[in-house]
Formats: sequence, C-alpha cells, structure tokens
Amino acid sequence: MMNLSKSEIIDILKDDGQNDRVFKLADEIRKKYVGDEVHLRGLIEFSNICKNNCKYCGLQSKNKTIERYRILPDDIISLAEKAVELGYKTIVLQSGEDEFYTREVMCNIIKRIKEFDVALTLSIGEKSTDDYKAYKDAGADRYLIRIETTDRNLYKKMHPNMDFDNRLRCLKDLRELGYEVGTGCLVGLPEQTISSLADDILFFEKINADMVGIGPFISHPQTPLKDVPNGSFTLALKVMALTRILLKNINIPATTAMETINPNGRIIALQSGANVVMPNVTSSEYRAKYEIYPDKICINDSPTKCRGCIEGKIKSIGRTVSKDYGFRK
Ligand code: 5AD
Ligand code: FES
Repeated sequence: MMNLSKSEIIDILKDDGQNDRVFKLADEIRKKYVGDEVHLRGLIEFSNICKNNCKYCGLQSKNKTIERYRILPDDIISLAEKAVELGYKTIVLQSGEDEFYTREVMCNIIKRIKEFDVALTLSIGEKSTDDYKAYKDAGADRYLIRIETTDRNLYKKMHPNMDFDNRLRCLKDLRELGYEVGTGCLVGLPEQTISSLADDILFFEKINADMVGIGPFISHPQTPLKDVPNGSFTLALKVMALTRILLKNINIPATTAMETINPNGRIIALQSGANVVMPNVTSSEYRAKYEIYPDKICINDSPTKCRGCIEGKIKSIGRTVSKDYGFRK
C-alpha cells in the first residue's frame, strides 16, 4: 500500500477499523527511513501582532481581547542564544504577519542567529519573492508555511482578504530559492471533507514537501469559529500517519495542537510517524499571549523545563534526541 490513490486514502481515513494498522505502518516507515532520533526545534514566538484575520486563529487582528507584544531583535537573539545553550540545533522564528519586522530587520536577526552555528527556520507568513530571497541570502535554511487546506472554497472562507494562489506562489518561491520547505494543514475546519483531506495529503506529495505539520483545529472563543467543535485527534493523527507512509523520509513534527487536545498527544504522534518536536523557548512573560488557540500546553513553563520534560518523554519510549541539525535525510 505504498502508492496510494485518492480513493484508497479516503477509504483509510473513513475506516476506523484500520487505525492501528495504519499507525503501526507509519511507525515502521519512520523507523526505516529516518530512524529513532527525534529532532528538537526551539520555537521562538516573537510577535503576536498580525494583519490577517484567519477565521480560526486567536491572533487575528479583529481579536481585541489579547494583549499584543513584540520581542525586539536584541531580545530575540538572546532567546536564541539560550536555546542553543540548552542544546537546540535548530531555531524556529515564528510570528503573526507583523510589518514592524522589515526585510532589513529580519535579515539582521537571521545573520546574528546564524553566528551561533544552528539551523534556522522561519515561520512568518506570506512575503514577497524578494523578501524570501533576502532571508535566504542572510542565512535562513528552512521556511514553514502551511497551506492550511487545499480546498480553494474553504480556503477563501477561512482567510478573508487572502489569496490561495499567493500561498502557492510562496511555496513555489521558497522551493526555487533552495529552502527546505515545510507546509501542512488543519484537520477539522468547518465543512472540511474527508476528500479534501485526501487532497491535502496528495498535495504534500506533489510539492515534495520536506516537512509537514498537521494539527487538529482547536476552537478559540474569541474568533468567528467559537461554536465549531474541535477537530478529531484520531483523524489528525491519521492524516499525519498517511503523510509519513507516502513521503517516507521527510520531517514530521508531533504538533503542540495534538498535545493540547490529548494529554499524551506528542508521544502518540511520535509513535505514529512523527520524528520532530518543537518545544517552546519563548520566555514565560509572552507564552500565554501567543494564543493561536486556547489551553496551549507549557504556557507556565520555562525553556529549561520544556527541554528536560520532552527529553524525558522521548527517552521513555526508547527514542533519542538527535545531536545534528536535522535536515531532511
Ligand atoms: N487550532 C489549531 N491550529 C491553529 N493554527 C492557527 N489557529 C489554530 C487553531 N485555532 C495553526 C495554523 C498555523 C499554525 C501556526 O497554527 O495551521 O499555520
Ligand atoms: Fe513544556 Fe513538557 S514540553 S513542560
């Protein structure tokens, strides 16, 4: 079952009787192609200011109830430095789409972090081709930008004033510029169909994504989707497992959203195809404010605590923490 057709993917997604078999197969493929090492990426959430209004996201600009923050460049650098001291080999810089960080400001941050001998991933949204080129020239290695859903109609409903084709343009630019490209989707958006989730998986395969992050939709009370129920943990896990079965040697995170709706979610994900975890290395004063969705894990924990916690969990399932940069094998 290695070359799955769309209808086979749909059948698997619909049939819960096959779950254990699918999760086991994804775990075996993970072991064979990327091994037992888990790559840790230190995540810095450096600004929760966003010009967009994604219907599902708590950081949308229409949400006036959250306190906004920006971490200044010098402070971002010191968070990165601390993360490197904790042993992280990759730093991920994530934020809302915040125009305060101009091309020049970002390039300066990138260059300074690259002096610490780490891989650097950006997750800062849709930018121009020239911006992406400048970040790459400054030293950025990877870029995460989820397609969120490949269903154009649903994409339009979920993202007022955004353009699906521009999202595709971003992914194409990033690939052509030589980044390792990460994408992914949400599972459980309103009106999302099983067929469109199958399309999402085939899309990851088509663009040959180097990394794919998948998480359940989690309803945020200060968004238009406040009355929509959360996505299913098991379905999100199955989309992730199928992605591993098809793309084999890519990097797949056990996402924070998985752990938010299941107390053992990251470990279950690591045993169903995932090989990456992205612990938060933002200082505690900001963590609770980066409220993409409610009840996010670790909001009262420190970078040191999370590092120790996750390493303990990884070792408890017989896996190890990787010491290399964790590029795609
Ligand atoms: N529930 C789950 N995931 C969410 N994201 C944004 N809002 C939510 C939510 N309510 C995800 C998006 C985005 C990533 C940074 O967080 O997929 O790409
Ligand atoms: Fe943060 Fe476990 S990873 S406390």
